[in-house]
Amino acid sequence: MNLAALAVDFRARFGSAPRLFRAPGRINIIGEHTDYSEGFVLPAAIDRWCAVAAAPNGLGRLRVVSQTFGQEMEADLAHLVPRGDWADYVAGPAKTLLEAGVAVLGADLLIVSDVPVGAGVSSSAALQVAVTRALLALSGIEADGVQVARWTRASENQFVGMPCGIMDSFASANGIEGGALMLDCRSLRATPAALPRDASFLLVNSMVSHRLVGGEYRQRREDCEAAARTLGVPALRDVVDLSVALQQLDGDLVKRCRHVVTENARVGQAVSAMGAGDLAALGELMNQSHASLRDDMEVSLPVVDQLAAIAQATPGVHGARLMGGGFGGCVIALVDTAAVDAVQAAIVAAYGAVIGESPDAFACRAVAGASEVFQ
Ligand code: GLA
Repeated sequence: MNLAALAVDFRARFGSAPRLFRAPGRINIIGEHTDYSEGFVLPAAIDRWCAVAAAPNGLGRLRVVSQTFGQEMEADLAHLVPRGDWADYVAGPAKTLLEAGVAVLGADLLIVSDVPVGAGVSSSAALQVAVTRALLALSGIEADGVQVARWTRASENQFVGMPCGIMDSFASANGIEGGALMLDCRSLRATPAALPRDASFLLVNSMVSHRLVGGEYRQRREDCEAAARTLGVPALRDVVDLSVALQQLDGDLVKRCRHVVTENARVGQAVSAMGAGDLAALGELMNQSHASLRDDMEVSLPVVDQLAAIAQATPGVHGARLMGGGFGGCVIALVDTAAVDAVQAAIVAAYGAVIGESPDAFACRAVAGASEVFQ
């Protein structure tokens, strides 16, 4: 990503010198559909970024150009309302900061992103975190990454209307170079976890673009909340004895509860496996996570199951599972680094034959969370 070119474009467009900010997308190694049950997740920020060039304009308005979407928007800071498209990920953070008492300044923003959209790697969190960082900096406000994550999630929940958990914002705001974060989504305590040596994470896009604002994600969240209410616990994270809990639940809630409780346990086991350099164990946990997301959380699709199965069967792969909210998006595979190119080519060819087009695929590197960039 060429930030110098972004600054040049900004000057040409708005006539002033911008400050530059960027926020990364994220992978999640394991711990899926657990964050909104106040459970555990294991994400890492990755080397795909949303960048924002920003400068105050003294107009009390946001003037925004997205190079990624080839579109513009303008909005009065006193009248920010959702309009149901990408602009909400810019206006939402501004509105959230205003409601928190931050004196947000009118600003010009030029945005570009290479985080794939609809792929389950949190392009929307990256955009909102980058905008939040930019608006805070222009107002001269210092805030730590935990607070930025809270504001960003609030924007997505309340302004955009997507009832997501905190994982995506947290990873984008607080990621660490070369490592993942084991995050307790209740306390927001994050413990760094070194990534396995000699192994890489490969993402292969199912090429089914997910839409999470809609019903299915919200329904899963409501199922988990209903199960917790029936069990008399604050969240499914608090279930102590799974077999006792399952006897008190009916229908889909049995499955949802079993997923959350077993997935939370897998996060801890995965951290241990990473620490011990046990790739086989980590891969097996990822495979189990996929099966649980498919059978108990029911957030997969047949074509995503096919992609996961292809990946799991490819030599050089230790494990693979669907990643993110589900209903499309990417599969993440744990791959021997020496074999990444061959594995990528094999999966792209085999899955490409299934869907009739070549899927996007890329290996990624863990990077630090959002920051201002000085040139
Ligand atoms: C989406 C949401 C996250 C999380 C995942 C599933 O990415 O934004 O908060 O719930 O789905 O783990």
